[in-house]
Amino acid sequence: MKSIVILISGRGSNMEAIVRAGLDGVRVAAVISNRPDAAGLAFARAHGIPVAVVDHKAYPDRAAFDAALAEVIDAHTPDLVVLAGFMRVLTETFVRRYEGRLLNIHPSLLPAFPGLHTHRRALEAGVKVHGATVHFVTADLDCGPIVVQAVVPVLADDDEAALAARVLAQEHRIYPQALRWFAAGRLSLEAGRVRLRDEPATSAGCVVPPVEG
Ligand code: GRF
Repeated sequence: MKSIVILISGRGSNMEAIVRAGLDGVRVAAVISNRPDAAGLAFARAHGIPVAVVDHKAYPDRAAFDAALAEVIDAHTPDLVVLAGFMRVLTETFVRRYEGRLLNIHPSLLPAFPGLHTHRRALEAGVKVHGATVHFVTADLDCGPIVVQAVVPVLADDDEAALAARVLAQEHRIYPQALRWFAAGRLSLEAGRVRLRDEPATSAGCVVPPVEG
């Protein structure tokens, strides 16, 4: 059984998708928010998951906040820390502490559109495909080794909200998938590179009926 701690800042729909997926071999030890008013906390509480708030406003700087956050995380001794709409930039010290044990989801096909307002920027750039990325976190923002991506089309009449919704549906699919791999012991970071042990062979292609006569 792998224990995970999920960090959120707001709505928490990715956290919800992970919890609802009921992943074999995954125990959500805690949900932690840096905002006391994060909507996702109610869902976690209602599902009996321990919640904690580490309010970044209560700390003088990033280092102090990250140290307090790490203390709360470590009390749960997680195998993996899952950033799910966690909107704080983390210090290098924090990132190094959880090297290979820290995943994030970003709403673009990285390395395109790191940072904020990805859907607006995708529309402005006129790209024809967009998507989401699950990646290991490194000290460089939205730049860590890529675990899995999902691609969606950008349609002619899309606005930011329509595109965001299409991407979000895929986020809710690929984050549980990445965690399934992790729980099965198939996903790791080795020497700074993602290692995903091979998928078992499944498809045998079409079944061609024997030709008679
Ligand atoms: C998601 O689009 C995630 O990729 C981004 O922020 C959004 C958070 O949504 N980092 P939610 O809180 O998981 O609903």
